[in-house]
Amino acid sequence: MKRLFILLLCAAALPLFAQTPVYLNPAAALEDRVEDALQRMTLEEKVAMLHAQSKFSSPGVPRLGIPENWTSDGPHGVRVEVMWDEWYGANWTNDSCIAFPALTALAASWNPEMAVLYGKSIGEEARYRNKNVLLGPGVNIYRTPLNGRNFEYMGEDPFLAAQMVVPYIQEVQKNGVAACVKHFALNNQEVDRDHINVQVSDRALHEIYLPAFKAAVQQGGAWAIMGAYNQYRNQHCCHNRYLLNDILKRDWGFDGAVISDWGGVHNTGQAIANGLDMEFGTWTNGMDWGKSDAYSHYYLAQPYLQLLKSGQADEAVLNDKVRRILRLVFRTTMAPSRPYGSFGTQEHAGAGRRIAEEGIVLLQNNRNVLPVDLSKTKNILVAGENAVKRMTVGGGSSSLKAKYEVSPLAGIRARAGNAARVTYVKGYESPAEREQDVQDAKNPQTKNIDAKALRDEAVNAAKQADVVLFIGGLNKNAGQDCEGADRAGLELPYEQDLLIAELVKANPNTAVIILSGNAVAMPWVAQAPAIVEAWYNGTEAGNALAAVLFGDVNPSGKLPFTFPVRLQDNSAHAAGEYPGDGRDVIYRDDIFAGYRWLDKEKIKPLFAFGHGLSYTTFQYGKAAADKSSIAAGETLTITLPVKNTGARAGAEVVQLYISDKKSSLPRPPKELKGFKKIRLNAGEEQTVTFTIDRTALHFYDDAKGAWTAEPGEFEAHIGSSSADIRDTVTFYLK
Ligand code: BGC
Repeated sequence: MKRLFILLLCAAALPLFAQTPVYLNPAAALEDRVEDALQRMTLEEKVAMLHAQSKFSSPGVPRLGIPENWTSDGPHGVRVEVMWDEWYGANWTNDSCIAFPALTALAASWNPEMAVLYGKSIGEEARYRNKNVLLGPGVNIYRTPLNGRNFEYMGEDPFLAAQMVVPYIQEVQKNGVAACVKHFALNNQEVDRDHINVQVSDRALHEIYLPAFKAAVQQGGAWAIMGAYNQYRNQHCCHNRYLLNDILKRDWGFDGAVISDWGGVHNTGQAIANGLDMEFGTWTNGMDWGKSDAYSHYYLAQPYLQLLKSGQADEAVLNDKVRRILRLVFRTTMAPSRPYGSFGTQEHAGAGRRIAEEGIVLLQNNRNVLPVDLSKTKNILVAGENAVKRMTVGGGSSSLKAKYEVSPLAGIRARAGNAARVTYVKGYESPAEREQDVQDAKNPQTKNIDAKALRDEAVNAAKQADVVLFIGGLNKNAGQDCEGADRAGLELPYEQDLLIAELVKANPNTAVIILSGNAVAMPWVAQAPAIVEAWYNGTEAGNALAAVLFGDVNPSGKLPFTFPVRLQDNSAHAAGEYPGDGRDVIYRDDIFAGYRWLDKEKIKPLFAFGHGLSYTTFQYGKAAADKSSIAAGETLTITLPVKNTGARAGAEVVQLYISDKKSSLPRPPKELKGFKKIRLNAGEEQTVTFTIDRTALHFYDDAKGAWTAEPGEFEAHIGSSSADIRDTVTFYLK
């Protein structure tokens, strides 16, 4: 009897199982799920998915159990929860994240393993917070040192940025969280960013400004991409036919969702036709105010629905957009398996610290002022506002509510312990120091700062100290390293140059530590024995810095962009067109961005792209190639021994640059096409191997609209920076 009952029950349940819709079956193929869900949706449900319902979320299909999409900035940590319609924090108590180092710092590690660690950690944080789209990473090319958002990007070289972005994306997405790569494309300045029309050659577009995005899509497999605010070919990038339909979707085969930047959509017709899939942030000025319940007025909301209903818009175009959003859902919130993530953990803080330690760059170290030897140092003076200033707050959309942030001063104090007395003087002060001011750049606090008095106090204290650690640079205030505006000049702000010049005179054991996301001028470079670029390093910033300053960690970071002596030495400024005339900006430097320009013009940089010292020394041996010429389809292998000739273990980034000796179109004197970070114990030697194929030799021929590699002579330069080539081998392409 009992058995019969169970049997009947099973039989009754059978049709239930049989009817499980394909879209709900995690074992079904992605495209089958997408098609099944799509054909169940009403027109209204489809259109609803295309636009925001709150500041950071968009609707799902409640009737079908399809969840909402929740985005979050990005790219250095998972942003605070905000009010439904506002940018303001909602004062939750469970949203304090780990702040990871800025992407410039990650790029400066020149170590894709650090990008793995970064992506994994931030992906876990986003997943735990139930975000299925992380608004990052950013890979806009560093074109001018004035760009307020360079700290969110990966430097001036397309190859380096491409190598670093791929693992970041892959690891984020293993958490069932989409990486939304931004800002596609040509958003290389903040001045006039919402309308400036970039005029750039096809060649520079493909060779300089697109490769990192292309790698993000094709190698990283990014599930989402964010359009940029600016215009290109007189069309806003969030609905730019050429960029989105032709290049991204057609040529690169991108099957994910194109998400607008917040407030980056301006036109329904273009948004429909030109490849935009999801609209966010409209009816705001993009940064600090929003209109309640504006969502149904979005360009892709009611206006689109009306057009569809009246037959003026084609449902097939709508379906393509919805398919892309459904893919996003089935890859993330409705993925077959998805880990739970973790948030604010010690493990993540440790990951951030490791990345920071690998990214810090020792720019100069005369007389071995660094590392600080605590057995010989009794009095340490720490000077400079950046030793105590919070850097995880401010800077625009990447601002974070960090669980904690170890300041440089705290890190130095903790590391010095009882071995030395650490005193602190401010030395200089920025006018907008309070957090509220940082967030509301329109209302910077005006206070009376007596720069001379602050400076005198610091210089007097420096005279008493055994070692001076000056910690300055830029900050996240408006007009510094901050979204929405560019810097006014290359110089350090707040009279720091005067202070540094006096400090190094007062005490010969002075190390100058710059925190920034951009190159700065250093008129005191010849007098400062030690200089460190320590970026914005997030939660564990102070501990990472102290580990390098005291020699627990041997620095191994290399610059991901050039430090020019003068602003005019930078390509965007040399030709004089930055920031454009308010309508257009012409990239007259063409393919010669970054070190390519300095090489071509034979300009000596202050510190070159790829430069970075160690507490040990590395000797490069002779480079050798496995053949003297290669044919199409073949690869070339170049080897070179590198030896640690110093007394301690360290890591070196060995760089490969390629020169095309003769070509039908002008080419940069050399271009980065490979790098390897190797770790060597004292006295140890290792052979570094680079294998290249035609893609390391090719250029974009805009007349043909295709990549081409021309037969002839090439050179492979191997060096320790773009300005420090140690050996060269010649080879031929058949
Ligand atoms: C920024 C984006 C950011 C978005 C959401 C925009 O102003 O340009 O990078 O993801 O805001 O905060």
